[in-house]
Amino acid sequence: MKQHKLATRVGHIAPFQVMMVLDRAKQLQSQGEDVIHLEVGEPDFVAVDAVAKAGMAAIEEGKTGYTSATGLSELKIAISDYYLSRYQAEVAPERIIVTPGASGALLLMASLMVNASDEVLMPDPCYPCNRHFLIQAGAQAKLVETKVENGFELDLNTLSGHWGENTSGLWLASPSNPTGAVLSKSYVAEAWQKVSEFGGHLLVDEIYQGLVYEGEDFSALSISDDIFVVNSFSKYFAMTGWRLGWLVVPQWAIEGATKLAQNIFIAAPSVSQYAAVRAFEADVLAECEVRRQRLDARRLVLLEGLKLMGLPVVAPAHGAFYVYVDVSGVTEDAMKWCLELLEREKVALTPGADFGIKDAHKYVRFAYTCDEERLKEALVRIARFMSS
Ligand SMILES: Cc1ncc(COP(=O)(O)O)c(C=O)c1O
Repeated sequence: MKQHKLATRVGHIAPFQVMMVLDRAKQLQSQGEDVIHLEVGEPDFVAVDAVAKAGMAAIEEGKTGYTSATGLSELKIAISDYYLSRYQAEVAPERIIVTPGASGALLLMASLMVNASDEVLMPDPCYPCNRHFLIQAGAQAKLVETKVENGFELDLNTLSGHWGENTSGLWLASPSNPTGAVLSKSYVAEAWQKVSEFGGHLLVDEIYQGLVYEGEDFSALSISDDIFVVNSFSKYFAMTGWRLGWLVVPQWAIEGATKLAQNIFIAAPSVSQYAAVRAFEADVLAECEVRRQRLDARRLVLLEGLKLMGLPVVAPAHGAFYVYVDVSGVTEDAMKWCLELLEREKVALTPGADFGIKDAHKYVRFAYTCDEERLKEALVRIARFMSS
């Protein structure tokens, strides 16, 4: 008899809890309900016009074949120039491996640096897919407990206690998903110093780079050439569906990363790459800056509204487009609270259980990916929900 057996690793991958919220939100919408989406980690902007036009021109000109496995050289040069001019980081173009989204870069990173049975440390809470990319490599993530008083920043003084024989490295993100917190340059420098003492690797996920409202917008690449960095066109450049990101590797890892990129992806989407070259020109960057300011204005509206409602914000929301909020004063179970809020007031949020383990049932993530009017309306609805 035929056995329908999936690989064991599939069983170790947790489905997103937010899917329950999303599915119900879609159902309500199809019944004509006006749902406000604050759950989606995706900008409500689209690619800047000039970038989209460059993509269309690439299609018209038939530039649709495979590119070199690590990306178009003009794109890698544009990214390298951008690191130098904006972040004072010298990054040789050949160290940049262009990938299908940051997701592709993270998958590549796991394949490149992590052996089966290794573990990688990361703060609890953090981006959930990281764990699953490691499982794919036969390894696993070890979520390190953090303290709410420290805005969920991993305490580097505890690192030696968590570092074991099979620890391969530390993965951080700044600005963070789900908290919106921005790490300081001195923090990343200290993390790098400690990790190198242990002989491990450090990866910094900078996918929300550029979306910083308070604190320093820097790149870990300005600290050391041996730090690995992930980035993407998804967030700052609002190109989620174009599926384009990159991984920056140290010089000594270029050959290995190239081999893997050739085999896993062949190449990142070519049309997206031609479009993305245009993203680093002054007019596009100016438009991205206007958008950043709009996000900042929304952030302030949301923070003020949450304060008035007495819902504590538990991490400094200085970047990305997220605010992490403690709802334990009003519910025992954030997931249940999210579903009830959606049912009664048609506002969708993401429960903390998607991001972490410790006390995750206390938290929800707000994404300010809708305009100020909608955000204000959402706040009115949440206040009504809480007072009913
Ligand atoms: C921290 C973080 N890393 C990586 C990704 C993957 O992004 P993409 O594959 O669209 O570039 C996301 C998406 O939300 C994210 O929040």
